[in-house]
Amino acid sequence: MVKIKYGCSLLTEDILAKMEPLLVEAHRWLEGLRKAKEVGFMDLPYRDPSNTLDLARRMRETTDTLVLIGIGGSSLGAECVMQVTGKDKGFYVLDNVDPEKFFSVLSSIDPRKSCFNVVSKSGSTTETVVNFFMVKSLLEKHMSWDTLKKHLVITTDPEKGFLREFTLKENITFLEVPPNVGGRFSVLSDVGLFPAAYMGVDVNALLEGARLALDHCSKPSLSENPAWILAAFHYFHYRGGKNIAVMMPYCERLSLFVDWWRQLWAESLGKNSCGQTPVKAIGTVDQHSQIQLYNDGPKDKVITFMVVKKMFHDFTLDDSLPEAFVYLREKTLSEVLKASYLGTASALYKNGVPFITIEIEELNEKSLGMLFMIYEVATALSGYLYNLNPFDQPGVEEGKRLTKGLLGFAGFEEKAKEALDVDALHSKCLVCI
Ligand code: PA5
Repeated sequence: MVKIKYGCSLLTEDILAKMEPLLVEAHRWLEGLRKAKEVGFMDLPYRDPSNTLDLARRMRETTDTLVLIGIGGSSLGAECVMQVTGKDKGFYVLDNVDPEKFFSVLSSIDPRKSCFNVVSKSGSTTETVVNFFMVKSLLEKHMSWDTLKKHLVITTDPEKGFLREFTLKENITFLEVPPNVGGRFSVLSDVGLFPAAYMGVDVNALLEGARLALDHCSKPSLSENPAWILAAFHYFHYRGGKNIAVMMPYCERLSLFVDWWRQLWAESLGKNSCGQTPVKAIGTVDQHSQIQLYNDGPKDKVITFMVVKKMFHDFTLDDSLPEAFVYLREKTLSEVLKASYLGTASALYKNGVPFITIEIEELNEKSLGMLFMIYEVATALSGYLYNLNPFDQPGVEEGKRLTKGLLGFAGFEEKAKEALDVDALHSKCLVCI
């Protein structure tokens, strides 16, 4: 079960009631896009995953390590799934083009026992293409291209893009990212499901959780619809000047969930000079780093706490604790964690910082599927509230085009001229020590 507790925020029942008609409109708009098949992420949980599960099983028969080559929406969801489920042993990601990371991954794996899943919706993202062809060229020194192809699965748009053409020409196994599902909304497509299935995650439970969330997200009432509450909470406070949204789980297994959400929130809603900057914090660690600022700094933040009620493991403190800490004897670590969350939340409340808490009974595939879907729907609805398109990313595309121009990509010559000479700009205020 996933509960959203919003009682401590400044968002009163009255204000919520006034916001309800706007949410009804947003809901209708999103349903319209779904029916017109323009937006497909809400249909993903109803797809039959058998072919994906079969492929993962077959790849697993001959390999024991998965290297995912992809970035942003093509990797963050899978990384989060592995962290939450603890199935991350033997799972590697090549997202960045940092040569040291590349070395670290390649020197940790046995390529003959590895499956390489290249994931890119557009099929042309520089980092992904670079990492893929670097891996290809290095591995071809040890095995033939025909052998390497048996270790490859390419996940991309079925209709267009360089990788799509490449898979057809080279006859490589491929999986599809539905054309109407954008990268950051794609975790429940084969983008996230193939890696999850390969690593032994219960994919059916993940999808079941997402379906359950959708049942709730279809209810036309603020008191029952978790996505409406999240969208209303953020929108109300954003209009009141809170342009920073902090997500702070008191559970380290949710750390990469925050990274996944951060991309979803920032790329979907950071447009037309508006948007809330998403910030990551981890309880209790960031109590000793960030909380001073949240309590006492500018009043420009809303906080989302996440707490997990049942931990898989727990430990009880005993009487070996020194006398000065006697009050902690017989307490469990999860009790200390919970008290830390309650203490932090109370202090924020006293300081007038709005927050909500997402309480998760047990963190597993099912509740994770719920969280993915609730946040995807809330983000899409927020697009309507902010009067912008949550499904595009013009700011990312422009940077991608300028980078291609700078790297000499044919057809992008004019873009290269638009790029600034950043080194020259910096040289005006150069400090050498
Ligand atoms: O959400 C998005 O569209 C982006 O963040 C993409 O996921 C990211 O840029 C990677 O793109 P692609 O999957 O096309 O390689």
